[in-house]
Amino acid sequence: MTSGMRSRPKGRPRAGSRGYAKLVRLHHVSGGRLSARVLDGRKIGDEIQAELADQLRELKAARITPGLAAVLVGENPASQIYVRNKVKTCEALGLYSERIECPAATSTENLLGLVARLNARDEIDGILVQLPLPPQVDSKQVLEAVDPAKDVDGFHPVNIGKLVSGRPGLVPCTPAGIIEILVRSQIPISGARAVVVGRSDIVGKPVAMLLLHHHATVTICHSKTRDLAAVAREADILVAAIGKAALVTADFIKPGATVIDVGTNRLTTPEEVRRVFHHPAGPLRQLEAKGSVLVGDVQPEDVREKAGAYTPVPGGVGPLTIAMLMANTVKAARLRRGKEAFRSQPSLAG
Ligand code: GUN
Repeated sequence: MTSGMRSRPKGRPRAGSRGYAKLVRLHHVSGGRLSARVLDGRKIGDEIQAELADQLRELKAARITPGLAAVLVGENPASQIYVRNKVKTCEALGLYSERIECPAATSTENLLGLVARLNARDEIDGILVQLPLPPQVDSKQVLEAVDPAKDVDGFHPVNIGKLVSGRPGLVPCTPAGIIEILVRSQIPISGARAVVVGRSDIVGKPVAMLLLHHHATVTICHSKTRDLAAVAREADILVAAIGKAALVTADFIKPGATVIDVGTNRLTTPEEVRRVFHHPAGPLRQLEAKGSVLVGDVQPEDVREKAGAYTPVPGGVGPLTIAMLMANTVKAARLRRGKEAFRSQPSLAG
């Protein structure tokens, strides 16, 4: 991620100094009250897609159309929506895409056969196996079978090794998107205290590694961390990726901190909505109208009051995951297809 190296633009104060808190607190004063800056993931995702559209025009002139295969196993409703959105974005950008659906009872062997066939097809540059897979499938074995050059999720051990050792490779999409949000919003990373709540292979571990490469001082927290709120309160940059609705409340947030919310949790009962929201009238109306209320891992009213900047749910990290998947597919196509695809340097995911 070459663009990420500009993490402290000229004139910005160094994180850790009093200037950091001042910088993030300088945001919006509405009705005499401080209100955090919203980091608009849709806008940043659109910016990245516009940059990719330029690259795709160039590739088209060299008769190259990057191709993505998205494998969906079973009928997990969230996975169905994610895969549909990924394929739709490919179509909108002019990438070739295939959605391959397998029954929930599919075996590891079936999936290994499918992945081997996709590895062998030249017009497929990227392979994505949507997670989670059903319990009878050995997920690690399937992910290891994907050709590392086509591993647009960045989950293959070869790409994980490259990420850890700071070598160029395909980087997991959500973590890469989080860095893009911070860098493009001019949030200082170098020298900042970053706390990641959640240690998943998909988000927690890789985003911690990327923040470290951008010179943050990084702590990873998890379910066994003692006094989680006190550790989180140290953070200039707090990443919540633990999968628990509104776990991060006011007491986790240092005033003026930047809070990145990776969670997408659906509340489906009035009791849940009342438990999460301090002022539940609006969300209760939404529950009645739509049948559910989407909430991240961060309490939305608290973060607005206390943070300096934050990503909303929806409209924060989600659009970046898709944009970075597109970026990885274009990058995989350029790397696989050699010289004719490299007439100019891409600005992303270098
Ligand atoms: N499930 C949740 N997030 C992801 C992701 O980034 N990639 C894949 N393949 N599955 C997921």
